Amino acid sequence: MNDLSNRRIIVTGAGGGLGEAIAIACARKGADLILSDFNEVTLQRTLERVEEATGAKPGLHLCDLSDPASIAEFGKAVEGPVHGLINNGAIATGMGGIGFEDIEIEAWDKLMQVNVRGTWLMIRAFAPHLRDSGSGRVVNLASDTALWGAQNLMSYISSKGAVMAMTRGMARELGPDKVGVVAIAPGILRTESTEYVPEARHRLYETGRAVPGPQGTEEAAAVAAFLVSEPAITLTGQILPVDHGFVFN
Ligand SMILES: NC(=O)c1ccc[n+]([C@@H]2O[C@H](COP(=O)([O-])OP(=O)(O)OC[C@H]3O[C@@H](n4cnc5c(N)ncnc54)[C@H](O)[C@@H]3O)[C@@H](O)[C@H]2O)c1
Repeated sequence: MNDLSNRRIIVTGAGGGLGEAIAIACARKGADLILSDFNEVTLQRTLERVEEATGAKPGLHLCDLSDPASIAEFGKAVEGPVHGLINNGAIATGMGGIGFEDIEIEAWDKLMQVNVRGTWLMIRAFAPHLRDSGSGRVVNLASDTALWGAQNLMSYISSKGAVMAMTRGMARELGPDKVGVVAIAPGILRTESTEYVPEARHRLYETGRAVPGPQGTEEAAAVAAFLVSEPAITLTGQILPVDHGFVFN
């Protein structure tokens, strides 16, 4: 029943590590995919990997999540219903290890524009398509760092805290139209985006998880693919840590 055939799913940030894994997980379930990123090179790379892994032929759309006009244009360019929107695109690397007193205002603002405003505007741009589908699902990428209060990562955790709050409010606004909105909160994954993170932080996670050890992208991707399926409506409004039991929500 959580099959995605006949469901059109959009994945943002599809050029990145988790985005690619989510695209493959959705394609394996038969989704009709539209993959998006602002990086044409990595988006094309994901397309090739999805084709190679699954034989699927996703559509591509370049979109800059920091640019409201680019997001609005994306919404207009897609005709017909959309069954799932996975808001995975974000500034997700390079902002850690900086104390809150040392964050550049410009960097803070940019991160909020992409991670928070971009998520809101994507949902706004695709709300008509999601309603039209009769079973629209939104999956927002949060992070468990916002749940346990990771230090020296203030701009990022603030943005993901906002995404969690938005998820709950949007779930109530869109619920009457049968559109579900959830957030998943991965812990630190072994992705290119976290290669810069000091080993001590990786170790903190790897020894602190209920299921100790490193975590790749596959399980979080599989959960995201379930959450855009029809039965996932029952989880609307929930924030789901997908971190092998590092935090319990
Ligand atoms: N990797 C982790 O450990 C981890 C943990 C918790 C949450 N997350 C979340 O998962 C998601 C994916 O993370 P990732 O590790 O794959 O990171 P990543 O940096 O590999 O991927 C992020 C993607 O977003 C795209 N992006 C950035 N700015 C954009 C913009 N202005 N417009 C359009 N696209 C833009 C990038 O090009 C990239 O492809 C993010 O939301 C991240 O915050 C990741």
